[in-house]
Amino acid sequence: MGSPTNQQSDAPDKNAEDNSETDFGFRRVDLADHTGLVRGVFDSVARQYDLMNDLMSGGLHRVWKAALQNRLNPRPDMTLLDVAGGTGDIAEGFLKRGGGGAIICDINREMLTAGMDRALDRGNTAGPSWVCGDAAALPLARASADACTIAFGLRNVTCRTHALAEMHRVLKTGGHFICLEFSPAVLPQLQALYDTYSFKVIPWLGQHVAGDADAYAYLAESIRKFPPPEQLAAEMQDAGFGNVTQTPMSGGVVWMHSGWRI
Ligand SMILES: C[S@@+](CC[C@H](N)C(=O)[O-])C[C@H]1O[C@@H](n2cnc3c(N)ncnc32)[C@H](O)[C@@H]1O
Repeated sequence: MGSPTNQQSDAPDKNAEDNSETDFGFRRVDLADHTGLVRGVFDSVARQYDLMNDLMSGGLHRVWKAALQNRLNPRPDMTLLDVAGGTGDIAEGFLKRGGGGAIICDINREMLTAGMDRALDRGNTAGPSWVCGDAAALPLARASADACTIAFGLRNVTCRTHALAEMHRVLKTGGHFICLEFSPAVLPQLQALYDTYSFKVIPWLGQHVAGDADAYAYLAESIRKFPPPEQLAAEMQDAGFGNVTQTPMSGGVVWMHSGWRI
């Protein structure tokens, strides 16, 4: 299995042309610093990431991810690219459900290594490919994947427009794109509880389980800065995706955004 491979993209470096500020949680930071700040968050939490997901969501993240994997309708002739794939559970579930091949691409080597170690511990030596790369400059040729997913990753990338364009570029015609992401707003009757949970309970868990309250405060803040579903649908259409549909889950806490390369 070795270590994650570093890959160069055949796409231009789209981050290089921008020179302004962006959101890092509730802070405004220089665009040039953003990727490094996000990398620092996931470097810090990588080893406790899976445990924290189970604790924070009460195991619900597995249900959300299973819904995405089933929606892909995996077949042996399908190759999945899972962008911002972290420790690899989207790809793992895709392969278990009959998918033919899977590539996990993540900018963070610590997350990939934690996922590879977990796969080895489970005896999964023949599984997905693990690639270190940026969503804004994917290390894949155009029209090379049958499906492309990004789960809880899009809100972390430095430039969403570039990432969406890249995920569209690498999909084959007829290929399926699915983004799973938290929503900044939930059902009104859940909002107060959602806010308390996000800004009090999650950083507390982050401190006591992963030893980093700030990293988990960032995760909660980044959810609030993510666009509402209707804006993301428009951005997906601008990137070229067709037949865009959006499905709320768990009272609108998480949405599945689906589109096709047509
Ligand atoms: C919240 S985790 C999600 C991981 C996994 N998809 C999951 O659902 O558990 C976000 C991931 O996005 C990755 N990431 C952040 N910015 C990225 C970028 N520009 N390109 C690729 N991956 C990125 C992080 O390293 C991290 O592994």
